[in-house]
Amino acid sequence: MNNTTLTLPRPDDWHVHLRDGDVLAAVLPDTARHYARAIVMPNLKPPVTSAAAADAYRTRIRALLSDGDDFEPLMTCYLTDVTDAADLAAGTRDGIFTAAKLYPAGATTNSAAGVTDITRLDGVFETMSALGLPLLIHGEVVDRDVDVFDREAVFIERVLTPLRARHPALKIVFEHITTAEAAAYVSAADARLLAATVTPHHLMLNRGAMFEGGIRPHMYCLPIIKRETHRQALVKAVCSGDAHYFLGTDSAPHVMHTKESDCGCAGIYNAPVALAAYAEVFAAHDALPALEAFAAHNGPAFYGLPVNTRRITLTRDAHQPPPSRCVSELGDILVFDAPGTAQWRVSPAP
Ligand code: DOR
Ligand code: ZN
Repeated sequence: MNNTTLTLPRPDDWHVHLRDGDVLAAVLPDTARHYARAIVMPNLKPPVTSAAAADAYRTRIRALLSDGDDFEPLMTCYLTDVTDAADLAAGTRDGIFTAAKLYPAGATTNSAAGVTDITRLDGVFETMSALGLPLLIHGEVVDRDVDVFDREAVFIERVLTPLRARHPALKIVFEHITTAEAAAYVSAADARLLAATVTPHHLMLNRGAMFEGGIRPHMYCLPIIKRETHRQALVKAVCSGDAHYFLGTDSAPHVMHTKESDCGCAGIYNAPVALAAYAEVFAAHDALPALEAFAAHNGPAFYGLPVNTRRITLTRDAHQPPPSRCVSELGDILVFDAPGTAQWRVSPAP
């Protein structure tokens, strides 16, 4: 597989956490370097729940970009029990919002202000359906009686299926899917209405990796990494180039001491190596040509946006791997140790 190369349109990252302040300043270059656009998650403290807050956050992001950067942040609205549909609609018409994000309250990092009862948002979902504004879903139930490894599959039957029946025209992205059940469910749907992002870590790791030789907090994320059969189902889904699936890294930086603690944060920082990791997975399954659809075509098609015109080349050759840490004012952030990615180089195509 050495000296493999692939040239494709500049990819987009359809799911990333850029954070704010010092961490934003530290991690933004890693995303802006490789991606033309990114869907920016709104789970800040406090969360981005209004058009004004999203506009201000976008301004803070843009202010940190360098002159030569070719990167556009696409903003999302954090849905709560009291989301104002009129503000969401105005923010969409004003070109501030590209999507809205549903976190079930308590499901993950900074989700405490999320939605406690999804049926209360039916009016918001009607507005979104009329606008064509996609709903991005963290698809896990929060019921403690449901085993943490089953929460995604249970979400499909308890929440997602009834939601889609109530709102058949709503465009939905089932974010960072982790199970064979989710892949089967998404593959069976109309790709204009239901799609999914898949992270590099869920394509590369199974749950055994979290416990290899000891507990490995840097492999902990939500939804939690599942058993090998699920990883294989995800690999099969994305390597087909199927229009339902697109690139979403879920790169989620946390400074190291907050992960290496008695109650460590969920999230894997993969922005510097994610493209290499995807390339490694596709190449290992003789599917490198399908990476172009996954990374550069399927997402824009779903969102109704143009494919990027600039191009990049991915090359697998002898080359200096990226640093294993990102240094921020608040502390170091460990980069995902993605197996086999050290040799991939990303460069602008002529
Ligand atoms: O692992 C995760 N980290 N999953 C999420 O859903 C949120 C994210 C974060 O913000 O750190
Ligand atoms: Zn996320």
